Amino acid sequence: MLDIKIELTKNRKAKPDMKNNPPEFGTCTTDHMFEMDYDPEHGWHDARIVPYGPFMVEPITMSFHYAQEIFEGMKAFMGPDGNPLMFRPDMNAKRFQRSAKRVCIPTIPVEDYLQAVETFVKVEKEWIPTEPATSLYIRPVAFATQASVGVETATEYKFFIVACPVKNYHTEFSSDDSCWVETKYSRASEGGTGGDKCGCNYANTLLPQEEAVARGYDEIVFADANEHKYIGEISASNIMFVIDGVVVTPELDGTILPGITRDSLLTLCREWGIPCEERKITVDELKETLQNGKCTEAMSTGTAVVIEPIGSFGFEDVGRLIVGDGNVGPISRKLYEGLLAIQRNELEGPEGWLVEIK
Ligand SMILES: Cc1ncc(COP(=O)(O)O)c(C=O)c1O
Repeated sequence: MLDIKIELTKNRKAKPDMKNNPPEFGTCTTDHMFEMDYDPEHGWHDARIVPYGPFMVEPITMSFHYAQEIFEGMKAFMGPDGNPLMFRPDMNAKRFQRSAKRVCIPTIPVEDYLQAVETFVKVEKEWIPTEPATSLYIRPVAFATQASVGVETATEYKFFIVACPVKNYHTEFSSDDSCWVETKYSRASEGGTGGDKCGCNYANTLLPQEEAVARGYDEIVFADANEHKYIGEISASNIMFVIDGVVVTPELDGTILPGITRDSLLTLCREWGIPCEERKITVDELKETLQNGKCTEAMSTGTAVVIEPIGSFGFEDVGRLIVGDGNVGPISRKLYEGLLAIQRNELEGPEGWLVEIK
C-alpha cells in the first residue's frame, strides 16, 4: 500500500470546451500529476500527487539515449452516479509489469499501480468530461532517470501519471479510414519488444507512417519482420477483420501488443455468439478476400481509437482495395456500440470489467 502525499495546486486551469472546441488528442493536461521515484536503497518511494509541471533532468539522463521507458494508455469515464469508471485497469497494471520486466525497469506491484491510478483519477475527477465520445485519457509512464551515457541497466527511475481530457479520435463511426499494408519497413521482430508497451516501438513507425500518408493512407498495418508475409498490427492499435462472417485477428506471437480492447472484443464475440479466431493471416489472404468479397469488414482496435472501421487497404502491387461494400459493417457496429455501452455502465459486461472509483 502506497502512502500517497497530495499537494493540490493553487492555480487551477480552465477546463476545455469539449463540446464545441475540444483540444487536439493528448495536448491538454489536467492540474496535477502523480510521481514516484526508485533507487536501489529505497525501492519505489515518495509517492505523491503534485501540481502538473516539468521535470528537471540532466541531458545525460539514460532514457533519452537508450529508450529505457515504458508506458500505458487507459481511460476514465464519468459514471451515471457521478463516480469515475475505469475499464479493466488491472489488465493495464499487469501489462505494465510485463513491459517493465522486458526492459529491466523495477516492477510496480499491481495493487500499487491501481492505487496510484485510482487516487489520481479521484483528485482529477472534475476533469473527466461528460460529453458523448469523451473521456479522461490516462498515461502512466516509467523511465530511467539516472544520469550516465553508459549503456547499461539504470539504477534510478521515475514513475509518473498524467491525464488529458479527450474526445475520441474519430467521433463519426464511418469507414473513411484507409490503411496501407506495409511490407518494406517492419515494426517489431521475433524476440524483440513488440509485445510490450515500450516507447522504442513507436519511433520506428513514424517514417513508414509519413510515407503512407504521402501515398494517401491514414494508417499502416505492419507485416512480420521475417518474411513480410503475415499481417501484424497497426502502429498504435490492433487489427481485426471479418472474413466469411468470422471475426479474425492475428494471433499473439510476441511481436504484437496484447491489446486490452482486442481481448475484450474477442471475449464479447464469444459471449454474443459471433464466431471469432486468432490465427495467422497472410497479406495474400487479405488481398484475395478483399478481391473476392469475403473480407467484409476491417477495424483498428485500441483504447485511444476504441474501434475504427477501415474502409480500404493499399497494397504495393495492386493498389487500393475497398473493404466489403465500402460502408461500416454490422459486426463492427455491434462491437463498437456494445463496448461503449459497457464502458459507460449502460450495458452489463463480464464480471469485474468495470471499476467504480468511490
Ligand atoms: C502497438 C499497439 N497495439 C495495440 C494497441 C491497443 O491496445 P489497447 O487495446 O490495450 O489499448 C496499442 C495501444 O494501446 C498499441 O500502441
